[in-house]
Amino acid sequence: VIIPNLAAEPNMPAAMRALESRALLVAPLQTGSQLLGVLGILRHATREFSSRDLALIAVIANQLGIAIQSQSLREQAKQIALLEERQRLARDLHDSVTQSLYSVTLFAQAIRSATYTGNLPLTQQYVNRLSEMAQQALKEMRWLIYELRPALIEEVGLVNALQRRLELVERRAGVAVEFESKAMQELDTALENSIYQIAQEALNNTLKHAGATFITVRMSMDARHFRLEIQDDGKGFDLVAVKETAGLGLASMQERAAQLGGTLTITTKPGQGTRIQLNVPHSKEPSP
Ligand SMILES: Nc1ncnc2c1ncn2[C@@H]1O[C@H](COP(=O)(O)OP(=O)(O)OP(=O)(O)O)[C@@H](O)[C@H]1O
Ligand SMILES: [Mg+2]
Repeated sequence: VIIPNLAAEPNMPAAMRALESRALLVAPLQTGSQLLGVLGILRHATREFSSRDLALIAVIANQLGIAIQSQSLREQAKQIALLEERQRLARDLHDSVTQSLYSVTLFAQAIRSATYTGNLPLTQQYVNRLSEMAQQALKEMRWLIYELRPALIEEVGLVNALQRRLELVERRAGVAVEFESKAMQELDTALENSIYQIAQEALNNTLKHAGATFITVRMSMDARHFRLEIQDDGKGFDLVAVKETAGLGLASMQERAAQLGGTLTITTKPGQGTRIQLNVPHSKEPSP
């Protein structure tokens, strides 16, 4: 829409007419048939909009329409990712802390019955179990709270992020941790992120399933490869049996390692602890 002179239009609101001898061009911002807004351009009325101006403004309006739409799609994708993350946390909360707290209530009831009958050995046994379950719930709660914190990698890098996680989750849960990093240089953020995800799943598994009291985390680098080893002294598991019933964690670790062109080796046996070894190529020059 072109209005050659706002001041000369009797139907114009006073505020628009007050702009005096101006020409107004209004172009729709749209994608497909959806109108997203309008682009208005004012110019002195003595200079008419030429057909070249119109063509140029139409192109600009078009580009703006596309930019607005892709921005709103990005926002939508972010919202969906947030929702999925919340759902995952709700599931984790249900699978972990809720179960542990439920066990706590069962043991509390059992203790009450045992004290009524004066059965001291049984009472002691239940009190021990109750204390263990409460500690487990606390561990899981710490881990979930940690999961809620925004990602750290971009800010502090892989080595620090992993150290912080060990400090805030494992150490506070009373698990002894040995951390070693040798010849580490910063890697590409995407690679550091993937490595961190793998390490995190390995540590989460140790926390949830192993009942470990000691964890060793070792990182090292040479000219071509990055290596990570996470070992726990927990109860271990049967790798073959677990393949049938497995959750998503072990599979997603393997998948990520393969995507990075690397390997992930799991060494474990019931009663023997678990060791996860990750080996991935990187493209960093060796330090001088
Ligand atoms: N460090 C470990 N110590 C003892 N058992 C483990 C350890 N890591 C994994 N497991 C066993 O292997 C199974 C499969 O692990 P996986 O990570 O694939 O699934 P999950 O942890 O049960 O569920 P998800 O990771 O999808 O939340 C676990 O349920 C557990 O029995
Ligand atoms: Mg898991």
